[in-house]
Amino acid sequence: MGKVHGERLPRRAHHSNLGDYGQAVSHFKWGDVERQFTWYETGKVNMAYEAVDRHVEEGRGDKTALLYSDPVREEAYSFADLKEQSNRFGNVLRKYGIGKGDRVFLFMPRQPELYFCLLGILKIGAVAGPLFEAFMETAVKDRLEDSGAVALVTTPELLPRVKREELPELRHIFLVGGDADEESGLHAYDLESASVSAELEPEWLGLEDGLIMHYTSGSTGKPKGVYHVQRAMIQHYYTGKVVLDLQKDDIYWCTADPGWVTGTSYGIFAPWLNGVTSVVRGGRFNPRDWYDTIERCGVTVWYSAPTAFRMLMGAGSESLRGVDLSSLRHVLSVGEPLNPEVIRWGDKVYGQRIHDTWWMTETGGMLICNYPGMDIKPGSMGRPLPGITAAILDDQGKELPPYSMGNLAIRTPWPSMMERIWNNPARYEEYLRIPGWYISGDSAYMDDEGYFWFQGRVDDCINSSGELIGPFEVESKLVEHPAVAEAGVIGIPDALRGEIVKAFISLREGYSPSETLKAEIAAFVRAGLSAHAAPREIEFKDKLPKTRSGKIMRRVLKARELHQPAGDLSTIED
Ligand code: PRX
Repeated sequence: MGKVHGERLPRRAHHSNLGDYGQAVSHFKWGDVERQFTWYETGKVNMAYEAVDRHVEEGRGDKTALLYSDPVREEAYSFADLKEQSNRFGNVLRKYGIGKGDRVFLFMPRQPELYFCLLGILKIGAVAGPLFEAFMETAVKDRLEDSGAVALVTTPELLPRVKREELPELRHIFLVGGDADEESGLHAYDLESASVSAELEPEWLGLEDGLIMHYTSGSTGKPKGVYHVQRAMIQHYYTGKVVLDLQKDDIYWCTADPGWVTGTSYGIFAPWLNGVTSVVRGGRFNPRDWYDTIERCGVTVWYSAPTAFRMLMGAGSESLRGVDLSSLRHVLSVGEPLNPEVIRWGDKVYGQRIHDTWWMTETGGMLICNYPGMDIKPGSMGRPLPGITAAILDDQGKELPPYSMGNLAIRTPWPSMMERIWNNPARYEEYLRIPGWYISGDSAYMDDEGYFWFQGRVDDCINSSGELIGPFEVESKLVEHPAVAEAGVIGIPDALRGEIVKAFISLREGYSPSETLKAEIAAFVRAGLSAHAAPREIEFKDKLPKTRSGKIMRRVLKARELHQPAGDLSTIED
């Protein structure tokens, strides 16, 4: 592969917690990071204690931890408030016999109670499982069932999407803003937490004890429950310092929802472990509201995603009229490839270089990043975090030289690496099939200065607006529709969303193709799974390309769609 990156943006004067990259890499020891935690002395670990209670004990209780706003509410909570509210919910959970290792899920919009409850779950050593509020029935059921969740925090609006009769292990539901019906295990969150003590002794844990679960998609099978443990805090804290560059007086805004890993690792843990004020905006995306949030809260560090930046770019100069974004000091991105064009636009309109970061649900924290003060090559994900070794391997595990495309791999272990795939050790082992390495599923190459360049997914996963979608989950839903005989789902390029979902469908006898049927099928997926997983394009076909063993060949569908060579067709049916 030739050198494709002629452009290099100059280093900017920028105070950085990392300092010189080369020096930081050669002097780095995880042990030095670990010494920053109280458990290094006491031997007792609890994420919620380190992120919240510790600040109260060390005299920072009055500092604002959470600045919340949505179109109707505007509230601020200090670290002392968070301590109290999470203690209360922890006590409520204990009252119902819930404790260490139990999975307690959250299915609700971004609002302060979500944060109180999540911290309360962690305080008692239970494992939190946040679900994105846009999930519909099947998506919710699959995740609650697989995790064996014993309790769920939700709202009356979302409760109808929880198929309780099919979830025997789910014994308790806490309704935020709703009434109790104790006989059927429905508890009123507000009443319950007001009636218990505000004092609580956290459950003291080991570094390998459970913390949080996030479901992510693969190209086959149901979503995978990625299980993270307490030690992840080491990486959250450290990357908060040297990548987000968090400093004492920062006002930090991570735009991700806690239903996705970015919204917990970097919407909750990294800022609060560093004692920094975190902004949460409820409601839907809207350029004016977003800029207004930055201006009103005085956001200094902003972590968002390429699709959001592209939407802001598309909103044009009108959306910027009269807004003052001069508080911004550091802007970062994650989740999908960040277009060089967007970086140049950010330079112009925000006076800020957007710093790309690369990581995954499974990695728990950032691994390859652009650091404050470093030369940025637009289009590159950056360089490995000090303490992390990344490489490009061929399929046999041989390390490839610069500019060769191959499997992006990370030397195991690192602190925030997932501890397992819930209920599925075989799928966990797949990531570790080459001894000593974690195989990410991304293809990339490294240049001769150690910068990494993303090339694509190795598997069939679709990345739409930064959300990873498993084609199998969508196909399974599609074939539940009475008109659908078979379905094959691929991602196709889209200027705004990176990729969008396209479904190829063969119809059952008695159904004929029509635009109405397309709309009906798309709505069926939207209602069953979620809006982001629903196909934005549908094409009816008499027959789908299949292997002789009957597997639909997405690769062939994709090649035809993109007018590319289809590669090896020796296994195709006819
Ligand atoms: O393909 C990569 C892409 O998102 C995948 C991980 O998705 P998820 O587990 O949902 O986590 C997203 C947020 C941590 C990766 O395998 N991805 C993530 N960051 C980047 C990226 N692709 C290109 N550039 C990035 N910076």
